[in-house]
Amino acid sequence: HKKIIIAIDGYSSTGKSTMAKKLARQVGYRYIDSGAMYRAVALYALRHGMADTGGSVDEARLTAALPGIAIDFKVTPDGQRTMLNGEDVENEIRSMTVSQAVSPVAAVAAVRHAMTDLQQQMGREKGIVMDGRDIGTTVFPDAEMKVFVTASAETRARRRFDELKAKNMNAGYDEVLANLRERDHIDETRAESPLRKAADAFMLDNSDMTLDEQDALLLRIFNERT
Ligand code: C5P
Repeated sequence: HKKIIIAIDGYSSTGKSTMAKKLARQVGYRYIDSGAMYRAVALYALRHGMADTGGSVDEARLTAALPGIAIDFKVTPDGQRTMLNGEDVENEIRSMTVSQAVSPVAAVAAVRHAMTDLQQQMGREKGIVMDGRDIGTTVFPDAEMKVFVTASAETRARRRFDELKAKNMNAGYDEVLANLRERDHIDETRAESPLRKAADAFMLDNSDMTLDEQDALLLRIFNERT
Protein backbone atom coordinates (compact mmCIF):
# COMPACT_ATOMS: atom_id res chain seq x y z
CA HIS A 1 0.00 0.00 0.00
CA LYS A 2 1.25 3.50 -0.80
CA LYS A 3 1.31 6.09 1.98
CA ILE A 4 -1.04 9.01 1.61
CA ILE A 5 -1.97 12.26 3.35
CA ILE A 6 -5.35 12.39 5.03
CA ALA A 7 -6.79 15.87 5.65
CA ILE A 8 -9.73 16.14 8.04
CA ASP A 9 -11.16 19.66 8.18
CA GLY A 10 -14.31 21.13 9.54
CA TYR A 11 -16.07 23.03 12.27
CA SER A 12 -15.08 23.00 15.96
CA SER A 13 -16.26 20.16 18.15
CA THR A 14 -17.49 17.91 15.37
CA GLY A 15 -15.38 15.13 16.83
CA LYS A 16 -12.77 15.65 14.11
CA SER A 17 -9.85 14.92 16.40
CA THR A 18 -11.44 11.78 17.86
CA MET A 19 -12.11 10.38 14.39
CA ALA A 20 -8.71 11.47 13.07
CA LYS A 21 -6.88 9.83 15.99
CA LYS A 22 -8.83 6.61 15.63
CA LEU A 23 -8.30 6.45 11.87
CA ALA A 24 -4.56 7.11 12.34
CA ARG A 25 -4.33 4.24 14.82
CA GLN A 26 -6.26 1.87 12.55
CA VAL A 27 -4.13 2.55 9.49
CA GLY A 28 -0.83 2.96 11.34
CA TYR A 29 -0.34 6.66 10.50
CA ARG A 30 0.81 9.57 12.63
CA TYR A 31 -1.93 11.90 13.88
CA ILE A 32 -1.27 15.65 13.88
CA ASP A 33 -3.57 18.13 15.59
CA SER A 34 -3.05 21.44 13.76
CA GLY A 35 -5.52 23.23 16.07
CA ALA A 36 -3.23 22.44 19.02
CA MET A 37 -0.47 24.36 17.25
CA TYR A 38 -2.64 27.48 16.91
CA ARG A 39 -3.75 27.03 20.52
CA ALA A 40 -0.11 26.94 21.66
CA VAL A 41 0.64 30.17 19.76
CA ALA A 42 -2.45 31.73 21.37
CA LEU A 43 -1.25 30.65 24.83
CA TYR A 44 2.14 32.24 24.15
CA ALA A 45 0.43 35.45 22.99
CA LEU A 46 -1.81 35.51 26.09
CA ARG A 47 1.12 35.01 28.43
CA HIS A 48 3.08 37.82 26.82
CA GLY A 49 0.21 40.29 26.69
CA MET A 50 -0.03 40.12 22.89
CA ALA A 51 -3.61 38.83 22.90
CA ASP A 52 -6.56 38.76 25.26
CA THR A 53 -9.84 36.90 25.63
CA GLY A 54 -11.73 39.88 24.19
CA GLY A 55 -10.31 39.08 20.78
CA SER A 56 -7.63 41.71 20.39
CA VAL A 57 -4.21 40.75 19.10
CA ASP A 58 -1.03 42.80 18.77
CA GLU A 59 -0.20 41.55 15.29
CA ALA A 60 3.09 43.37 14.97
CA ARG A 61 4.52 42.10 18.26
CA LEU A 62 3.23 38.58 17.70
CA THR A 63 4.68 38.49 14.19
CA ALA A 64 8.05 39.66 15.53
CA ALA A 65 7.95 37.02 18.30
CA LEU A 66 7.26 34.08 15.96
CA PRO A 67 10.90 33.01 15.46
CA GLY A 68 11.06 32.48 19.25
CA ILE A 69 7.98 30.24 19.37
CA ALA A 70 8.85 26.57 18.95
CA ILE A 71 5.94 24.17 18.77
CA ASP A 72 6.10 20.45 18.59
CA PHE A 73 4.53 17.22 19.80
CA LYS A 74 5.92 14.73 22.28
CA VAL A 75 4.74 11.16 21.94
CA THR A 76 3.96 9.54 25.31
CA PRO A 77 2.29 6.24 26.24
CA ASP A 78 -1.02 8.06 26.81
CA GLY A 79 -0.95 10.01 23.59
CA GLN A 80 0.66 13.13 22.21
CA ARG A 81 1.44 16.20 24.24
CA THR A 82 1.69 19.65 22.70
CA MET A 83 4.99 21.35 23.57
CA LEU A 84 5.61 25.11 23.57
CA ASN A 85 9.31 25.99 23.80
CA GLY A 86 9.92 22.67 25.53
CA GLU A 87 7.06 23.03 28.04
CA ASP A 88 4.14 20.59 28.06
CA VAL A 89 1.09 22.83 27.53
CA GLU A 90 -1.34 20.09 26.47
CA ASN A 91 -3.81 20.76 29.31
CA GLU A 92 -3.58 24.52 29.34
CA ILE A 93 -4.27 24.94 25.61
CA ARG A 94 -7.70 23.28 26.04
CA SER A 95 -8.95 25.92 28.52
CA MET A 96 -11.80 28.32 27.73
CA THR A 97 -9.31 31.21 28.02
CA VAL A 98 -7.26 29.84 25.14
CA SER A 99 -10.42 28.95 23.17
CA GLN A 100 -11.48 32.58 23.45
CA ALA A 101 -8.16 33.95 22.19
CA VAL A 102 -7.23 31.42 19.52
CA SER A 103 -9.27 32.38 16.44
CA PRO A 104 -8.07 36.00 16.23
CA VAL A 105 -4.49 34.76 16.74
CA ALA A 106 -4.98 32.13 14.01
CA ALA A 107 -6.20 34.85 11.64
CA VAL A 108 -2.79 36.61 11.71
CA ALA A 109 -1.14 35.98 8.33
CA ALA A 110 2.39 35.47 9.70
CA VAL A 111 1.08 32.95 12.25
CA ARG A 112 -0.66 31.00 9.48
CA HIS A 113 2.44 31.02 7.29
CA ALA A 114 4.66 29.75 10.12
CA MET A 115 2.23 26.98 11.12
CA THR A 116 1.59 25.97 7.50
CA ASP A 117 5.37 25.58 6.94
CA LEU A 118 5.70 23.46 10.06
CA GLN A 119 2.71 21.30 9.10
CA GLN A 120 4.09 20.75 5.59
CA GLN A 121 7.41 19.62 7.09
CA MET A 122 5.57 17.18 9.35
CA GLY A 123 3.83 15.71 6.31
CA ARG A 124 6.89 15.45 4.07
CA GLU A 125 6.98 11.67 4.26
CA LYS A 126 3.19 11.26 4.10
CA GLY A 127 1.52 8.63 6.25
CA ILE A 128 -0.23 11.27 8.37
CA VAL A 129 -3.75 12.18 9.40
CA MET A 130 -3.94 15.92 10.07
CA ASP A 131 -7.05 17.66 11.32
CA GLY A 132 -7.81 21.36 11.18
CA ARG A 133 -9.56 24.03 9.15
CA ASP A 134 -7.44 24.53 6.04
CA ILE A 135 -5.50 21.29 5.66
CA GLY A 136 -7.25 20.17 2.47
CA THR A 137 -7.39 23.68 0.98
CA THR A 138 -4.05 25.28 1.88
CA VAL A 139 -1.63 23.04 3.77
CA PHE A 140 -2.00 19.92 1.60
CA PRO A 141 -4.10 20.84 -1.44
CA ASP A 142 -2.91 17.58 -3.05
CA ALA A 143 -3.88 15.33 -0.12
CA GLU A 144 -5.14 12.01 -1.45
CA MET A 145 -8.00 11.84 1.06
CA LYS A 146 -9.96 14.88 2.25
CA VAL A 147 -12.92 14.90 4.56
CA PHE A 148 -14.93 17.97 5.64
CA VAL A 149 -16.83 17.40 8.86
CA THR A 150 -19.85 19.28 10.05
CA ALA A 151 -22.75 19.01 12.51
CA SER A 152 -25.30 21.44 13.93
CA ALA A 153 -23.96 24.11 16.33
CA GLU A 154 -26.15 22.77 19.17
CA THR A 155 -24.90 19.20 18.71
CA ARG A 156 -21.33 20.46 18.72
CA ALA A 157 -21.82 22.71 21.78
CA ARG A 158 -23.35 19.81 23.70
CA ARG A 159 -20.36 17.58 22.85
CA ARG A 160 -17.85 20.26 23.82
CA PHE A 161 -19.74 21.04 27.03
CA ASP A 162 -19.75 17.34 28.04
CA GLU A 163 -16.05 17.08 27.23
CA LEU A 164 -15.13 20.10 29.39
CA LYS A 165 -17.34 18.83 32.22
CA ALA A 166 -15.63 15.42 32.13
CA LYS A 167 -12.30 17.22 32.55
CA ASN A 168 -13.71 19.35 35.40
CA MET A 169 -13.08 22.49 33.36
CA ASN A 170 -16.16 24.49 34.16
CA ALA A 171 -17.98 26.49 31.54
CA GLY A 172 -21.69 26.98 30.92
CA TYR A 173 -23.44 25.48 27.89
CA ASP A 174 -24.44 28.95 26.65
CA GLU A 175 -20.86 30.18 26.93
CA VAL A 176 -19.59 27.14 25.02
CA LEU A 177 -22.21 27.62 22.27
CA ALA A 178 -21.42 31.34 21.97
CA ASN A 179 -17.66 30.65 21.78
CA LEU A 180 -18.17 28.01 19.12
CA ARG A 181 -20.30 30.32 16.96
CA GLU A 182 -17.82 33.14 17.39
CA ARG A 183 -14.87 30.91 16.37
CA ASP A 184 -16.80 29.54 13.37
CA HIS A 185 -17.54 33.07 12.24
CA ILE A 186 -13.93 34.26 12.56
CA ASP A 187 -12.61 31.07 10.91
CA GLU A 188 -15.02 31.37 7.96
CA THR A 189 -14.54 35.07 7.30
CA ARG A 190 -10.78 35.58 7.73
CA ALA A 191 -8.84 36.67 4.65
CA GLU A 192 -6.05 34.13 5.02
CA SER A 193 -7.08 30.51 4.28
CA PRO A 194 -10.64 30.68 5.64
CA LEU A 195 -12.48 27.58 6.79
CA ARG A 196 -14.18 26.08 3.77
CA LYS A 197 -14.69 22.72 2.16
CA ALA A 198 -12.18 21.83 -0.55
CA ALA A 199 -13.99 21.04 -3.81
CA ASP A 200 -12.67 17.48 -3.71
CA ALA A 201 -13.39 16.84 0.00
CA PHE A 202 -15.95 14.29 1.11
CA MET A 203 -18.71 16.06 3.08
CA LEU A 204 -19.47 14.30 6.34
CA ASP A 205 -22.37 15.57 8.49
CA ASN A 206 -22.21 13.45 11.62
CA SER A 207 -25.11 15.00 13.58
CA ASP A 208 -27.02 11.73 13.34
CA MET A 209 -24.24 9.18 12.91
CA THR A 210 -22.86 6.73 15.42
CA LEU A 211 -19.10 6.58 15.91
CA ASP A 212 -19.05 3.07 14.44
CA GLU A 213 -20.85 4.17 11.28
CA GLN A 214 -18.46 7.07 10.93
CA ASP A 215 -15.35 4.91 11.41
CA ALA A 216 -16.56 2.38 8.87
CA LEU A 217 -17.18 5.13 6.34
CA LEU A 218 -13.71 6.64 6.82
CA LEU A 219 -12.02 3.26 6.46
CA ARG A 220 -13.96 2.60 3.28
CA ILE A 221 -12.82 5.92 1.79
CA PHE A 222 -9.25 5.21 2.91
CA ASN A 223 -9.26 1.81 1.24
CA GLU A 224 -10.50 3.33 -2.00
CA ARG A 225 -7.58 5.81 -1.96
CA THR A 226 -4.70 3.43 -1.22
O1 C5P B 1 -9.31 22.39 16.24
P1 C5P B 1 -9.42 23.38 17.36
O2 C5P B 1 -10.83 23.76 17.68
O3 C5P B 1 -8.63 22.99 18.56
O4 C5P B 1 -8.70 24.69 16.78
C1 C5P B 1 -8.69 25.88 17.53
C2 C5P B 1 -8.72 27.08 16.61
O5 C5P B 1 -7.50 27.12 15.84
C3 C5P B 1 -9.83 27.12 15.56
O6 C5P B 1 -11.03 27.68 16.06
C4 C5P B 1 -9.22 27.99 14.48
O7 C5P B 1 -9.39 29.36 14.79
C5 C5P B 1 -7.74 27.68 14.56
N1 C5P B 1 -7.30 26.72 13.54
C6 C5P B 1 -6.99 27.21 12.29
N2 C5P B 1 -6.51 26.37 11.33
C7 C5P B 1 -6.31 25.07 11.58
C8 C5P B 1 -6.64 24.54 12.85
C9 C5P B 1 -7.15 25.40 13.81
O8 C5P B 1 -7.16 28.39 12.05
N3 C5P B 1 -5.80 24.29 10.62
